Amino acid sequence: MRVLGIETSCDETGIALYDSERGLLADSLYSQVALHERFGGVIPELASRDHIRKTLPLIQEVLDKAGATLADIDGIAYTAGPGLIGALLVGASLGRALGMALEVPTIGVHHMEGHLLAPMLEDTPPEFPFVALLVSGGHTQLVRVDGIGRYRLLGESLDDAAGEAFDKVGKMLGLAYPGGPRVAALAEKGTPGRFEFPRPMTNRPGLEFSFSGLKTAVRNTLAEERVRQHADHGARNMDEQDIDEQTRADIARAFEDAVVQTFVIKCRRALQATGLKSLIIAGGVSANLRLREGLQGMVEKERSRLFYAKPRFCTDNGAMIAYAGCQRLLAGETEGLALDVRPRWPLESLSPLGQGGTR
Ligand code: KG4
Ligand code: ZN
Repeated sequence: MRVLGIETSCDETGIALYDSERGLLADSLYSQVALHERFGGVIPELASRDHIRKTLPLIQEVLDKAGATLADIDGIAYTAGPGLIGALLVGASLGRALGMALEVPTIGVHHMEGHLLAPMLEDTPPEFPFVALLVSGGHTQLVRVDGIGRYRLLGESLDDAAGEAFDKVGKMLGLAYPGGPRVAALAEKGTPGRFEFPRPMTNRPGLEFSFSGLKTAVRNTLAEERVRQHADHGARNMDEQDIDEQTRADIARAFEDAVVQTFVIKCRRALQATGLKSLIIAGGVSANLRLREGLQGMVEKERSRLFYAKPRFCTDNGAMIAYAGCQRLLAGETEGLALDVRPRWPLESLSPLGQGGTR
């Protein structure tokens, strides 16, 4: 079965064609980063309008890359939530309309289920059951995964998502949006250990996360450094940019180390609590190299294995939606005529594969 995947939940238009026999045939991504950069974050209305412009040309591009035509599509999967409602509606209405025109089934996919299953696109995919750490711009969750649609939440962030914390710290450091990859790049030049930030909620039991205290610690350290350097140089009107590059890099490194250590501690705890031996990481922040390294070291000590997708399938993409939708369509799932997208949609509310549709 060949399934066209359409991802338009936020600021990336992602399209892919996945074949259940041959794997991923082609994929394309259009990032709106340049469009939103000057606003320091995603402007929902601009995002929706840009998805309208890009989705159809990208579908054509993917078909061309795969040497396929519309007639080769056996099913269509689109992101139905969670995400920005206007952006979701673009992919959903386009996917549904195309499905009706081609007389093929369509399916609305949960964005985080897409992320969670992205490591399945790799040559050595994980086997169920496993523990999943979902770390994106909107979510930070530890989930026990017993199969597709069989998710049990083990813990989640009580405030900011990890990606959000990276983005906010990026802003504090004077970096452009999205801050995550830029903070990571700056941290590479940093001296480990010059600054030390808290590892939030690690000194008490449980699998919950919180990143607001860590963010405040970064803000306070920046303010102290600003005052110190101001006094040292007798300069006026100092802002983040005026703090010397090395100090900014050292702070970025300390922040990244604190996040990575926190995830290492909580993931170890989740593996021990469940007795499972496989950990997968998914979502934008799972592209972070230090996080991968930190978790790799931990799973080796735990005699467990770590799985993740290649970096371009960690952040938003059409391939993960095509894959997840394909599994559900193959299991015979269908959806009603009503077009239903959901800005909020708990992962745990999904039904197990083949048991009565996703909604
Ligand atoms: O999964 P994703 O593409 O979109 C959402 O579903 O939210 O995740 C985007 C998030 C952003 O916050 C971005 O800054 C972060 O992932 N991110 C990173 C890295 N690459 C992307 N954070 C840290 N290190 C990275 N290398
Ligand atoms: Zn995402």
